[in-house]
Amino acid sequence: MQTRCALVGMPGSGKSTVGRQLARRLGLPFIDMDHLLEQRLGCSISSFFEQHGEPAFRDHETALLAELAAESGDMVLSTGGGVVLRPENRAALRQGFSHVMYLRASPDEIYKRVRHSQTRPLLQVADPQARLRELYRTRDPLYREAAHYVIETGRPTVNTLVNMIVMQL
Ligand code: S3P
Repeated sequence: MQTRCALVGMPGSGKSTVGRQLARRLGLPFIDMDHLLEQRLGCSISSFFEQHGEPAFRDHETALLAELAAESGDMVLSTGGGVVLRPENRAALRQGFSHVMYLRASPDEIYKRVRHSQTRPLLQVADPQARLRELYRTRDPLYREAAHYVIETGRPTVNTLVNMIVMQL
């Protein structure tokens, strides 16, 4: 059976950290969509947002996901937090990946993890905590729609989360 695992969830939910360890554990290639996009765009996501705006970023993100979803090799994919906003991306995740995992964390928990981060353009606002709550309200149902499993990330260590995911495969 194929292992094409994609991790979705809010910014700061641990997709990249957990994804990298999961891939190592399974001996599979790890792809971080944001890193791959930065390589292709030739700049950081923050500066791309500043220069071209969010819709242009979403177009590149959608094209890259379609490309990855059409591949057939095993992999662990870490997605950007907003990938689920477009319905075609939610469909591409479910159709192109055997295991889509939603790493769920409450917005207040996420705030504690990302409050010092300067690299997330959507959180560069006067009240990032309120912004996270608003993003969570809109996106939680979309992550649930895209995912096959919900993994609660509140207390467990990264290693425990990896074990929880491996048990679902
Ligand atoms: C975004 C999340 C980011 C990145 C971009 C937009 C979002 O990825 O794709 O800044 O809309 O939530 P992370 O979830 O890895 O921070």
